[in-house]
Amino acid sequence: MLSPNPFSLLCAILLCLPLAFIFTVTSPSSSSNSSSDDAGATTTTTNGNYIRKIQVRNIVPSTNNIEQNKNSEIKSTIVSRPQPPPAVIPEDDESLFRIAGRVNRNPSPTGATKKLAFMFLTTSDLPFAPLWERFFLPNQTQQQNNRTKLFNIYIHADPSSHYDQPFSGVFSGRTIPSKPTQRFTPSLVSAARRLLAHALLDDPSNAMFSLLSPSCIPLRSFGFTYRTLIGSDKSFIEILKDEPGSFDRYAARGPDAMLPEVPFESFRIGSQFFVLTRRHARLVVKDRRLWSKFKLSCVQWDTCYPEENYFPTLLSMQDPRGCVPATLTHVNWTGRYDGHPWTYQASEVSPDLILSLRQARPRYGDDANSTANGSDSSVSKRHDPFLFARKFSPDSLQPLMEIADDVIFRD
Ligand SMILES: *[C@@H]1O[C@H](CO)[C@@H](O)[C@H](O)[C@H]1NC(C)=O
Ligand SMILES: *[C@@H]1O[C@H](CO)[C@@H](O)[C@H](O)[C@H]1NC(C)=O
Ligand SMILES: *[C@@H]1O[C@H](CO)[C@@H](O)[C@H](O)[C@H]1NC(C)=O
Ligand SMILES: *[C@@H]1O[C@H](CO)[C@@H](O)[C@H](O)[C@H]1NC(C)=O
Ligand SMILES: *[C@@H]1O[C@H](CO)[C@@H](O)[C@H](O)[C@H]1NC(C)=O
Ligand SMILES: *[C@@H]1O[C@H](CO)[C@@H](O)[C@H](O)[C@H]1NC(C)=O
Repeated sequence: MLSPNPFSLLCAILLCLPLAFIFTVTSPSSSSNSSSDDAGATTTTTNGNYIRKIQVRNIVPSTNNIEQNKNSEIKSTIVSRPQPPPAVIPEDDESLFRIAGRVNRNPSPTGATKKLAFMFLTTSDLPFAPLWERFFLPNQTQQQNNRTKLFNIYIHADPSSHYDQPFSGVFSGRTIPSKPTQRFTPSLVSAARRLLAHALLDDPSNAMFSLLSPSCIPLRSFGFTYRTLIGSDKSFIEILKDEPGSFDRYAARGPDAMLPEVPFESFRIGSQFFVLTRRHARLVVKDRRLWSKFKLSCVQWDTCYPEENYFPTLLSMQDPRGCVPATLTHVNWTGRYDGHPWTYQASEVSPDLILSLRQARPRYGDDANSTANGSDSSVSKRHDPFLFARKFSPDSLQPLMEIADDVIFRD
């Protein structure tokens, strides 16, 4: 292996190309502005830094000459020592997941303040942006001190949708390269995996990864949410077995299509609104085996909800004891049979509603493997607090803002 053969040289050059472009393209901008904005040189996140890496990458195809190839070899030997920061975040999913699957499985550096990654999966504006803004940065004091070091925001925004206004405030510049999503297809799973991959690569201190929709609202203060999630060494993900209609969902790609990777006994259902540990986020983006099945198009589209099956099935098969088998995002299915949960209207918003949603006990999966006497006995004694709730109609914003400080963000 010491004497380079033509093949390994070719590989080296191919690997190095993108690095060269990043460095050459970004150097002018970094000299004219603060060096912490240097793309890929550091993964410390400030608003704008993250998106800059992405914008830079878009310039790649136009650059191409030998001088830069030479440069790149030098740079790459510097960069490719153990655990290199991601200099380039690839646009194609295969490479993105491969690179994200190699990050440190634990939040790092050891001892550093851990962060929450809030990942919004949307095809619309974020109607509750002002509420979230106040959740993240409740007042001037918080804005000026170190609160921003405790979280990162990522948005997957379907590019084929229409947005009335750009994402602003804490959401500004937080959109990852996104692709179209469609119900009844694996595209929603792809989008969630893309969010996980970007959040893993963006900041090694991201410790818990929470998936949210535009109709989700916070039920607690940021401090409460932070302590609850950072204090857990397990993921929170609903994992249900033997639900009505399980087999139809399993067979949506054809009765035997999931075999042998996913036998029906291993198939699970659960809300896609999970909070995953860093270890599990990495496990998800690394997975190729189950994804090879769940990414197949459905034959029977009306029982096809891959985003409610892939994550719980994968985690239940690979690390059930690392999961609390419940979602911390409240949803009201009472009396609903049309596949859509109850949507709260503005007139229903009240302090009592918020308090009753908070007090409800999550539904815990009854999977033998998750409830088994493992590291923390049975889940039957648990009563984890709901942290988020859905669905709220956009016009609920005003009444929610009115009770935000006195109710929602008061612990
Ligand atoms: C860097 O850019 C920001 C806005 O992008 C600007 O406000 C700031 O003054 C710039 N800093 C320097 C040193 O040019
Ligand atoms: C800002 O918010 C924090 C935490 O919510 C609180 O402790 C502090 O008193 C607030 N400061 C002001 C000036 O309202
Ligand atoms: C934030 O700053 C305060 C003092 O300004 C300090 O006591 C606290 O440890 C800091 N927290 C983090 C997470 O850095
Ligand atoms: C759940 O939705 C039903 C309507 O389907 C409603 O009557 C009920 O009050 C809701 N429950 C809560 C806790 O909001
Ligand atoms: C529990 O996990 C074991 C292996 O980890 C597996 O063989 C078994 O089928 C699982 N049981 C259920 C009910 O999923
Ligand atoms: C779990 O452990 C407790 C005692 O630690 C025991 O009483 C209980 O029967 C066990 N449950 C199961 C399902 O093994």
